[in-house]
Amino acid sequence: MTQHQPNPSALRSLGSRGLPVPAYLSAHYWWAYVHPNAVQVFERQWLVNLILWGNYPRLSTAALGALGSPIRGSVLQIACAYGDITPRMVGQLDADASLDVVDILPVQLSNLAAKLEPDDRVHLHCMNSAALKFDSASFDQVVLFFLLHEQPADVRLDTVREAARVLRPGGRLLIVDYSNPVWFHPLRYLWKPVLKVLEPFARDLLDHGIDPWVPAALPLALKTQRRFFGGLYQMLSFERSS
Ligand SMILES: C[S@@+](CC[C@H](N)C(=O)[O-])C[C@H]1O[C@@H](n2cnc3c(N)ncnc32)[C@H](O)[C@@H]1O
Repeated sequence: MTQHQPNPSALRSLGSRGLPVPAYLSAHYWWAYVHPNAVQVFERQWLVNLILWGNYPRLSTAALGALGSPIRGSVLQIACAYGDITPRMVGQLDADASLDVVDILPVQLSNLAAKLEPDDRVHLHCMNSAALKFDSASFDQVVLFFLLHEQPADVRLDTVREAARVLRPGGRLLIVDYSNPVWFHPLRYLWKPVLKVLEPFARDLLDHGIDPWVPAALPLALKTQRRFFGGLYQMLSFERSS
């Protein structure tokens, strides 16, 4: 397992060495995550909020509330996110809680490290969400904040399977992502063509929500489901059943 303290200079020493960049990221998201200038452009609170139609505070606050206050035990955040959700998560950690964050791009891990104070409870890892290097049943809570809509269906399924695997029985999987909005939602018709160009895999979630991506065979029981902004977004909380 690659493990790094959240020290910006230590993370920068990773340089461009990392895992192979998945084809879907370099083909469709080079502009948002892979390009060396992406971080400078997108790491702006107002911009991530704008991309979510002003819903970033509600969605991030709902996710942080669901994780607990304070957050206890071991938490895994799968994939970095622009904005302040991870620093706020760290601020909510109990004294003996821990947060591990994985991302496949060293540049994103460096960016996250620069947003965090050095903290022994927090560890960043260069890892593929579809093939996590953690032991099974090793986390109390796992968070997927707006990752699944960016992944093709096969990778998305592997990511959810891996999230379930590393969760201990009784642990919580929290997913926040796009969903199928109500039929009269104007963005249902206006936003889809935009996403088709910019985020081609998001369409699946707008049409069907996340439920089809959590196969019944997985040991995950849906506990709560909250919808936001006319159903364009949702937060699902699953408990690992066995
Ligand atoms: C969480 S998602 C999008 C979050 C949302 N747009 C935001 O920033 O708030 C973006 C991150 O997912 C990462 N990512 C995409 N595919 C991945 C994979 N297979 N494994 C690990 N990280 C991945 C990208 O490198 C990027 O940092």
